[in-house]
Amino acid sequence: MLRSHTCNELTAKDDKKEVTLCGWANTVRDHGDLIFVDLRDRYGLTQIVSDPSNSVSVHGIFEKLHPEYVIQIKGVVRTRPKDMINEKMVTGEIEVLCNEITILNESKVPPFEIDQEKNVNEELRLKYRYLDLRHKRLQENMVMRHKITHEIRDFLTKKDFVEIETPVMIKGTPEGSREYLVPSRIQQGKMYVLPQSPQQLKQLLMVAGFDKYFQIPRCFRDEDLRGDRQPEFTQLDMEMSFVEQEDVLNLNEELLIHMTKKLVPNKKIKKTPFPRMTYREAMETYGSDKPDLRFDLPLTDISDIAEKMEFKVFSDAVKNGGVVKVFRMPNYADTPRAQIENKLIPMIKELGAKGLAYIMYKDEPESPILKFFSDEELKAIEKKTGVKKGDVLFFMADKFTLACECLGALRLHLAKEKEMIPDDIFAYAWITDFPLFEKDEETGQLVATHHPFTSPKAEDIKLMKDDPLKVKSDAYDVILNGSEIGGGSIRIHDRKLQALMFEILGIKGDEVKRRFGHILEAFEYGAPPHGGIAWGLDRLAMLFCNEPNIREVIAFPKDGKARDLMLDAPSEIPEESLKEVGIKLI
Ligand code: AMO
Ligand code: AMP
Repeated sequence: MLRSHTCNELTAKDDKKEVTLCGWANTVRDHGDLIFVDLRDRYGLTQIVSDPSNSVSVHGIFEKLHPEYVIQIKGVVRTRPKDMINEKMVTGEIEVLCNEITILNESKVPPFEIDQEKNVNEELRLKYRYLDLRHKRLQENMVMRHKITHEIRDFLTKKDFVEIETPVMIKGTPEGSREYLVPSRIQQGKMYVLPQSPQQLKQLLMVAGFDKYFQIPRCFRDEDLRGDRQPEFTQLDMEMSFVEQEDVLNLNEELLIHMTKKLVPNKKIKKTPFPRMTYREAMETYGSDKPDLRFDLPLTDISDIAEKMEFKVFSDAVKNGGVVKVFRMPNYADTPRAQIENKLIPMIKELGAKGLAYIMYKDEPESPILKFFSDEELKAIEKKTGVKKGDVLFFMADKFTLACECLGALRLHLAKEKEMIPDDIFAYAWITDFPLFEKDEETGQLVATHHPFTSPKAEDIKLMKDDPLKVKSDAYDVILNGSEIGGGSIRIHDRKLQALMFEILGIKGDEVKRRFGHILEAFEYGAPPHGGIAWGLDRLAMLFCNEPNIREVIAFPKDGKARDLMLDAPSEIPEESLKEVGIKLI
């Protein structure tokens, strides 16, 4: 070994010990007589001192040091004078007086300072990610990811799960995204598809008899990116045979509670057992299928009152099958009107809202729409919403989903603006009973809300052909602080039902055979009832690390345009290589 200790180990107990340390010069401070170097490795920092009266030649080398030089020093530990002790550092009681130094490698001046919480441009950080990763915060994030996967493996192994790897070059498996393609050289004109998830493979493992499987796979989705999405991301993927929804939920809840308590003990879990609500209840109450439950602020439905109102915007919406929803924002009535008119309303309109009406409860309620309300109507609304002086009521009349989603977005926005979201709480919940299908607004075609392998609720199977949008599924999501951190379902294991599902989704005869023949065939050889879930591991790590986006918890992430700026990928491919796989660029 080139070192006897790490840079986070030595304390007053080691006084007078001879040690050898290696690391990067974090800072070099030349005090004329003495030179101090904070030596850094992934464990921490140790102060090294060079004193010319100790060794002139060593001091000469210290004079040539710059930040990020890699050095090895040999020296003697000495306790610092009392007034020089740094209590914030593990090694703050001591320093090492250097007797010998070797420069193991020099460094150019880095494009940004390491170990400084400065706002560095993200493109630059991603281009020099190996330097960015030297930051303590990112190093801690990587260690947290390691701990997360370690806990998962340990917990599931004790529960008899088997970790099985599945291939990455496969055939398309639908999760609702575009797919990444890999051209084949040997099978000219054909391509592999990178998995959006190991969904079908884990189901085939159930047919194979591995009744408790897990894997920590990479998944690939060619979709538009946001802060919590990456084109390649990691899941904890799990599947079990002979289980019901309850079994999957309980096991996952136990694992999440165990990991939270062990890895982020400073976060308080808001409620156990995790609250459960149906998709419909979540939309009704919070205007989202992944509501942030660290704070309450529910929405209210006043369609029953609105239906009879003279105000056409409200009554017509209900008559046309829509709703009128209200969001009560406490202590907001002294907000300048201009802010609501010029900031909030345009923001909500961006989401598709036609309008947003509001009443400000100053000494008296104030609003241009009050003239449309009778006294009784206003009283009924006040009672239903529990509005108090100082509050503002926001109203939206529209189709159920749009009205709920817009007010849900407003709820989140205003809670953030007013700093009402506690950051020491973990609010987990289960969202259940998702609809089996939803309608693609552009094509009018039914699509699977979760994926086509999700089982309808047994009692709703009879509605599948005639009233598919009414069919509920055995699908569930687990959410944490407003993020969907996982989703799964009990699966279809009956060939006929699976074929019907494809038929309703508009996947026809030959296409079914071509795309899904393997799974339909497998279901003819004794497929057990099964179900599972997949967690977005990057999202979970992001929340465990208190980070605002998943790039901060991925060693080498892609940027917002799906590029790896460090490797410069994707990149052009030489013509010969394209020829080999039979591809011609247009
Ligand atoms: P689903 O598509 O819901 O389910 O994915 C599971 C979880 O993966 C995370 N996730 C992502 N994280 C980062 N970047 C992305 N682009 C991204 N897309 C999804 C989310 C999500 O909850 N096969 C099913 C699971 C099953 O049914 O068992 C599936 O993949 O946190
Ligand atoms: P208008 O009749 O369009 O002048 O709208 C009267 C008031 O109702 C304005 O304050 C609008 O912002 C509001 N409004 C319009 N459409 C809606 C809607 N769908 N939901 C709630 N308020 C609306």
